Amino acid sequence: MRTLTILQPDDWHVHLRDGAYLAETTQDISRYFGRAIIMPNLVPPVLTSADAASYRDRIISEVPSNRSFDPLMTLYLTDQTSKKTITEAAKSSIIHACKLYPAGATTHSDAGVNTIEGLYPIFEEMQKTGLRLAIHGEVTDSKVDIFDREKIFIEQYLEPIIRQFPSLKIIFEHITTAEAVQFVQATDSRMGATITVHHLLYNRNDMLAGGIKPALYCLPVLKRDQHQQALIQAATSGDPSFFLGTDSAPHPASAKENACGCAAGCYTGHAAIELYAEVFASNNALQALENFASCYGADFYGLAHNTKTIKLIETEWTCPARKRFGETDLVPVRAGENIHWQVVNEPGEST
Ligand code: NCD
Ligand code: ZN
Repeated sequence: MRTLTILQPDDWHVHLRDGAYLAETTQDISRYFGRAIIMPNLVPPVLTSADAASYRDRIISEVPSNRSFDPLMTLYLTDQTSKKTITEAAKSSIIHACKLYPAGATTHSDAGVNTIEGLYPIFEEMQKTGLRLAIHGEVTDSKVDIFDREKIFIEQYLEPIIRQFPSLKIIFEHITTAEAVQFVQATDSRMGATITVHHLLYNRNDMLAGGIKPALYCLPVLKRDQHQQALIQAATSGDPSFFLGTDSAPHPASAKENACGCAAGCYTGHAAIELYAEVFASNNALQALENFASCYGADFYGLAHNTKTIKLIETEWTCPARKRFGETDLVPVRAGENIHWQVVNEPGEST
């Protein structure tokens, strides 16, 4: 039985939702993650530093008293975002990035940005103040094939943005293609990228062949095997541009297993580091997990590494078929099947 002790990890992209949902998501994510970048796509979205401060308080009130968890807040960019909002956010110690959702690209993105070029004065201010730009990198043109939307976004928007703003720090969120991997590798260290565990574990066959699996439907959608392999290669390569971001995005089972449309988002908050360990172990790269999960993201965000540790052991356990989610329930990734690694301590506890 293999074991692995690593510095306490952080999650650089997560959706905790709000209200009745917040208790379960916060319990799960604070189990061993020290910090997490909290996505702002609430309804209505997190638009100002004041919105972010009160959302942060609501999250902290759900963290069990024996744990320490630091929610790193983000703002949601819209066509109306003002320079003043950015200047204020850059001064705030709780806001670490602004998130760009192209309008209509994903769940809760209706209030997102319609004209990306219209945001250039905002990017200018972000570049000046050092505030990071987190991007959902997919075009929304209904004529563009859903499997090509990330690749086209790179050509159409990311290349011009990095040319125009040479020192803007950008996180290309939840990358899913070989083209995105190559683009991040070819860009200097001001660009980082998060990689989810579901995009490392699965490809579109897992979602579509033998019957559609709603639990695996997310955006950007799972791609073909060669892209999955490129992501695994990037995550395990020791390149500091790539780091852990679960994009754990819960939806009630009723919204995913729905006769009319399936909500986009995969829930991995219940077993995130365990599932990443599985991917790294099965690719003979366990030694690369600590940097990916616990160091490179913090370095990119200019934050210190955590100092406590967690211990994982290689052992089988069965993931519950459903999990409580507010007044309702959700179907997590791996529902009813075995997970091969387990965390055996709370951070810093001896085992
Ligand atoms: C996310 C959600 O549900 O909020 N969904 C998803 O499929 N990943 C939004 C996002 O990150 O795209
Ligand atoms: Zn997300």
